[in-house]
Amino acid sequence: MDGNGRWAKQRFLPRTAGHRAGVGSVRKAVEYCAKKGVAALTLFAFSSENWRRPAQEVSVLMELFLTTLEKETDKLHQNNVRLRVIGDRSAFSAELQARIAAAERMTEANQGLCLNIAANYGGRWDIVQAARSLAEQVAAGALQPSQIDAELFDSRTSLAGLPEPDLFIRTGGEQRISNFLLWQMAYTELYFSAALWPDFDEQELEAAIRDYASRQRRFGYTGDQVEMLSVNQGGR
Ligand code: FPP
Repeated sequence: MDGNGRWAKQRFLPRTAGHRAGVGSVRKAVEYCAKKGVAALTLFAFSSENWRRPAQEVSVLMELFLTTLEKETDKLHQNNVRLRVIGDRSAFSAELQARIAAAERMTEANQGLCLNIAANYGGRWDIVQAARSLAEQVAAGALQPSQIDAELFDSRTSLAGLPEPDLFIRTGGEQRISNFLLWQMAYTELYFSAALWPDFDEQELEAAIRDYASRQRRFGYTGDQVEMLSVNQGGR
């Protein structure tokens, strides 16, 4: 969700005004995905590197997470959304950690959209914590190194149990992944939008999905093989 700072600067406002405006785009994206039957939406709200920002900006972001959770959790629950926060939450205040845990508990049985908020998240962190969890089991004698394969590794990562992401969207015009879901995005289609996050609305999201729908995903097969497979599956 890039471009909040520039959106604010263009309006001679403090950067934090851009983050506040960005909450509106979060709401639109979540509502759109829930309505359209998207299985999972993962939003990169705060990276493990974002602590380097000015203390006042970090503090406003933390306040926004807290107040948004307080305001929106009931509505998410009524709409059958399952909320999860991925990342190292131990660095958050006790109040925010408790709020997150309560929202996750309230929505854990919901079967609709899986909404994952990546907060104090980094793709490398995710890979390292998965590796550490396997190493601990090996050290305890509960696992043989030869039993470790991609499936077992995946089961220790933050999005375990969810389908691999089909589409990655980065707003704000930069074309990089910036330590997002490094393990999970091996076959994800990448889409870069020039729109600044507070301007990213349903039309922008639809444009990204249309672009995605025009692509041929090959997963290592040839283009001809993919066409044959899709004919055999009734064009799905
Ligand atoms: C990146 O834009 C955005 C962030 C670091 C924060 C994203 C947070 C929100 C949209 C608000 C709260 C979210 C939730 C889930 C409640 P930037 O600041 O790097 O923008 P710039 O590149 O223009 O400076």
